[in-house]
Amino acid sequence: MEILSQSKSNIIRAATFMKEGGLVAFPTETIYGLGADACNEHAVASIYIAKGRPSFNPLISHVDGLPMAEEIARFDDRASTLAAAFWPGPLTFVLRRSQNCPVSWLACAGLETIAVRCPKHATALALISSLGHPIAAPSANRSGSISPTLATHVAESLGDAVPLILDGGASQVGLESTIIDLTTDTPTLLRPGGLSRENIEALIGAIALSGHAPDAPKSPGQLLRHYAPDTPLRLNAAALGPGEALLAFGPIPEDMKNAAAISLNLSESGDLHEAAANLFSMMRQLDRMGCAGIAAMPVPAHGLGMAINDRLRRAACRDSMLAPGGKKG
Ligand code: TXA
Ligand code: MG
Repeated sequence: MEILSQSKSNIIRAATFMKEGGLVAFPTETIYGLGADACNEHAVASIYIAKGRPSFNPLISHVDGLPMAEEIARFDDRASTLAAAFWPGPLTFVLRRSQNCPVSWLACAGLETIAVRCPKHATALALISSLGHPIAAPSANRSGSISPTLATHVAESLGDAVPLILDGGASQVGLESTIIDLTTDTPTLLRPGGLSRENIEALIGAIALSGHAPDAPKSPGQLLRHYAPDTPLRLNAAALGPGEALLAFGPIPEDMKNAAAISLNLSESGDLHEAAANLFSMMRQLDRMGCAGIAAMPVPAHGLGMAINDRLRRAACRDSMLAPGGKKG
């Protein structure tokens, strides 16, 4: 792991590394982020590996300004008003993904919505511009530990799981961005943060408080939103039922191979990283095919397999078992 000063040449070096799929921890005004090219599924999967996240929480896509934001998300009047007033700054919008949104499905945890933020930090902005794509980034710490506000915090928490850290000094705000969901008629505050609720309400009127914080990781079943296919999904399938499509992992047993009219393989070689990168897009593809069901082969529980199994379990559980508003978000 290397800590780099925030010189122009180091920012370009970091962006070049990200173009090749690498992870870079970078400073923002709120906290340090662990960034990857948001449009590269494999790079995004690496974030979850580095953080040791047991589930795939959707990530914020960081943009260098409104034009890039409007390429990935559908802005309405409220979002435009707030962006004009508070961007760059500690305010994240949850909006609908744009028609041809290039951001990886994994970064959005399979949802039709996307979290977008323009950070108020020259190094972060230069890094995004130099990459030419949005940067998907959660806080640059291992899952379950405190958010980092110094480059050394990142180094202590992630160690060699992060190859490059851009050192931008202490984060000025020091706590995460405020997240506001603008996909509903009444905007909802999903996470209080660096910009006050009053500041937002002064411009767009009353906002609702969400029933539970999206950040509360204690009870994974309570996660605010997650993607689940409409087609029933069955776990640990060892055989195929009539009309079922196969969501495979690794080598497919001969009888299943023969029985499957439709199949997609998360990773033929049994690579969990590749499987994570494919998970949401393949679930979506199979869901569109009008099959009687989706039979998912077992995925090992170690490493990223824990997060993959977490999402498969959620996808397999039907409406009644989901948190309110959970299904399809
Ligand atoms: O200040 C910040 O926001 C920092 C810096 C790096 O920008 N980032 C950050 O990321 O705190 P993270 O991953 O720790 O928190 C992002 C939160 C998560 O709770 C996630 O559930 C929520 O944003 N989120 C992301 N996409 C969402 C979506 N489509 N719908 C609802 N919540 C979403
Ligand atoms: Mg976090």
